[in-house]
Amino acid sequence: MDKVFKVGNREFILDQDKAEEAFKAKKVINGRKTMTFNLLPLRYQWAYDLYKIMKANHWEPEDIQMQKDVEQWRSRDITQNERWIIMMGIGYFSAAEGIVGDNIQHVVRELVTAPELKLVLGRHAHEENIHADSLLFMISSLGINPHECEAMFEQIPTIVKKNEWVTRHSYALRRDLDLTDPAHKRMLAKNIFVFGQCMEGTQFYGLFGMVLSLYRQNKFPGIGQMFRYTLRDESNHIEVFRNLFMDLIDENSEIWTQEFREELVETMREGVALEKEFIRDCLPTSAVGLSADEFEQYIDYIADRRLQDCGLPQLNPGVQNPLPWLAEMMDIKKETNFFEGKVTDYQKGAGLLLTSDDDL
Ligand SMILES: [Fe+2]
Ligand SMILES: [Fe+2]
Repeated sequence: MDKVFKVGNREFILDQDKAEEAFKAKKVINGRKTMTFNLLPLRYQWAYDLYKIMKANHWEPEDIQMQKDVEQWRSRDITQNERWIIMMGIGYFSAAEGIVGDNIQHVVRELVTAPELKLVLGRHAHEENIHADSLLFMISSLGINPHECEAMFEQIPTIVKKNEWVTRHSYALRRDLDLTDPAHKRMLAKNIFVFGQCMEGTQFYGLFGMVLSLYRQNKFPGIGQMFRYTLRDESNHIEVFRNLFMDLIDENSEIWTQEFREELVETMREGVALEKEFIRDCLPTSAVGLSADEFEQYIDYIADRRLQDCGLPQLNPGVQNPLPWLAEMMDIKKETNFFEGKVTDYQKGAGLLLTSDDDL
């Protein structure tokens, strides 16, 4: 018997028995392994929807004007502390984007089995490429020595520690894991939690906030705009990994023990501590009108949002967002002129898309 399946506004006629069989064989892990990209029927609708949103948000670094940034970088109006924040931003993210992309391609996308999950993870990895490319664009525009940036992620202890901490949860999974073993399932779930919620979801936000507070003061508008695009992408990445995590847990509920939940909360606590040390390095003095204390509280606030969204208890219940302007700045749906020039062409008539407007 044939049945009509709808994906967006497109219709497909599938044999019902075959479709049901294919649907049942789809799982986050341990599903049917196939080389063919048999997306239909969709089991993980969220993955396909997010793929579409992410694709509609496409941007390219070359579309951003950097003239003002270059002038400011060379001028005396910009303080050494402000230059340092930009250097830390470029230095940290140059390493971090690569680490995230590598983990998607060599761990998560390798281990999940449903094609629509592989589809959205492919787009996710591509966006990390765009982010890495945007950092190259900043480096070349400002005339920064690339070796100086490399030296930062090899020599600045708080960057080294953040990077070592995430990669610790990645390398052990790079082999043919027996994912019927609950211990291995937990390793994968923890990897997805660490990368999505602790790293992209929390440890990226100290610098996001600092660079955007410069942008708010009309400093480095091109870099600020690229960080806004990046942050919009990251909010989708957090959502991809959160959905993946929740579905993995849902389908493998035996791993969701009290002990494992506590382990995840402790892991977030470690991630937050590393981010706070890093914030102190980025803001050695409060002279630029940015207070390290406020940014630390902001990280506590963000971390609790991530924990809560994964059904986990918070570390600092009731902590307030000390930087409410940041949430407003991120609500780019309100800004009709956000996309200018060529970037609009990628939109293909779609509106500005975000998974939610309250990621901050
Ligand atoms: Fe990224
Ligand atoms: Fe990301």
